[in-house]
Amino acid sequence: MENKKFYITTPIYYPSGKFHIGTAYATTLADCINRYKKLQGYDTYFLTGLDEHGQKVQTVAEGRGLTPQAHVDEMADSAKKLWKLMDISNNDFIRTTEKRHEEVVDKVVEKFLANGDIYKGQYEGWYCMPCENYFTETQLVDGKCPDCGREVKLMKEESYFFNMKKYQSWLEEFYDENPDFIVPESRKKEIFNNFIKPGLEDLCISRTTFDWGIKMKNDPKHVLYVWVDALTNYISALGYMTEDDSLFKKFWPADVHIVGKEIIRFHGIYWPIFLKALGLEMPKKIYAHSWLVMKDGKMSKSKGNVIYPETLIDRYGLDALKYYLLKTMQYATDSIFTPEDFVDKYNYDLCNDLGNLLNRTIGMVNKYFGGKVYTEFEENEQDAELMKFTDEQIAKFEKNMDELYISNALSSIWKIISRTNKYIDETMPWILAKEEKTERLKAVMFHLVENLRKIAILLIPFIPQSAEKIFTQLGINEDARKWDTLKENNAIENGLTVIEKGEPLFMRLDTEVEVEFIKETMKA
Ligand code: MSP
Repeated sequence: MENKKFYITTPIYYPSGKFHIGTAYATTLADCINRYKKLQGYDTYFLTGLDEHGQKVQTVAEGRGLTPQAHVDEMADSAKKLWKLMDISNNDFIRTTEKRHEEVVDKVVEKFLANGDIYKGQYEGWYCMPCENYFTETQLVDGKCPDCGREVKLMKEESYFFNMKKYQSWLEEFYDENPDFIVPESRKKEIFNNFIKPGLEDLCISRTTFDWGIKMKNDPKHVLYVWVDALTNYISALGYMTEDDSLFKKFWPADVHIVGKEIIRFHGIYWPIFLKALGLEMPKKIYAHSWLVMKDGKMSKSKGNVIYPETLIDRYGLDALKYYLLKTMQYATDSIFTPEDFVDKYNYDLCNDLGNLLNRTIGMVNKYFGGKVYTEFEENEQDAELMKFTDEQIAKFEKNMDELYISNALSSIWKIISRTNKYIDETMPWILAKEEKTERLKAVMFHLVENLRKIAILLIPFIPQSAEKIFTQLGINEDARKWDTLKENNAIENGLTVIEKGEPLFMRLDTEVEVEFIKETMKA
């Protein structure tokens, strides 16, 4: 097979505080998509990292009595530790304070200056400190920041500007020709109607009021305002405009930039324009995901409603968290975290549906055939119907994954799980055993193991550790774990041996105790 390439990125996070499960979502999502593409045989590259410059980071560092560098170093260590704990499959971790990044940013700015895309002027606008963003009067909502709802200040300063207006008609045409550039559609409409159609404003790209950033070489009292710096990470990490730009040549353009809904404007307007100004290809897709929120709104320390990934992983295991996030988060709408929902998903989906199917199957194969699975039998209508249903759901799964309906893709897997559980009830293996219908019993055991094998393959992108456990318990060899074998029914060798006693994948939780536990951790 020809090696197809796939490049996926997450936003680079501000190192301003500990990451909660909301922030961990985009990385979990990108990890899932990356693993899916890898499973399908793509040569993938997955980038994440930290956005370490800017006034906010400087303020947080000062508040901790640290230099900004010492602060971001500490944060980078803890971010890397978290992604390791979460078994994130990223290829690189870019930090915007790294020399390799700063050098590319310098060259990018040089190119903008040389092309006349940047000019010096006076900026006056309403500035939101936490968002590090200026707004025009009309963009404010009730006089407050339209993104975070906090107070804004009228500020004026000498600044460099990027001439966005020059690219107005090009951008409109680009959107016309690439209707799926931004998904979901609702987000695209939002930025197109609210920001592009009314006419682009030139973008202020430098500051003189703080110094924690990349200094403009041509005028060093100016520090680059964070978006030119931040967005460039997607190409600096690949070595764009450096001696070794092999990764850039191989992987650019990005196949998907995963971003949160509130930063879609920067990715949907400024980023394509910067790339156009550099003469580079456009990313193929930008997926703007929604937010994980609490019943009382955004997660925040002051509200005492924050959940950290480590807490959940420590008590319930990594796959419980990954499954929860990927199942709960919807394609285009915010999702609400509740401890009850977390525990229910664990108990019903993971423990009952998936865990029991594996346990029952292994128990029966051991009881009836001493752990052996046979591939020679006559297929009957019940079997054919199960296979047909499974094939249909696999096709739906693929379509959902390709269109980034991740939660729906999980639903397709769970439909197979439920249908396979139902197959046990329909075929009643215990009756077949009693009536000594051995040939029929062989067929039933084969179909159970075969479907669990397929289920485990489909689960690799989501809960890789559990998928691995299923393969191991069933004795599935490496070759039969491959994506291409999903469409075959002959990957299992005759006489395959399952383990003697299945280890439960997930232990049933006491709902009341666990809901209380999660609520307590939120207060801590
Ligand atoms: N540094 C910029 C991104 C630059 S990308 C070139 C930034 N950083 S951030 O740390 O504030 O946010 C990073 C991402 O986390 C955003 O995409 C944001 O949507 C996401 N999330 C923060 N809280 C979230 C939830 N509660 N739920 C889901 N995602 C959330 O913006």
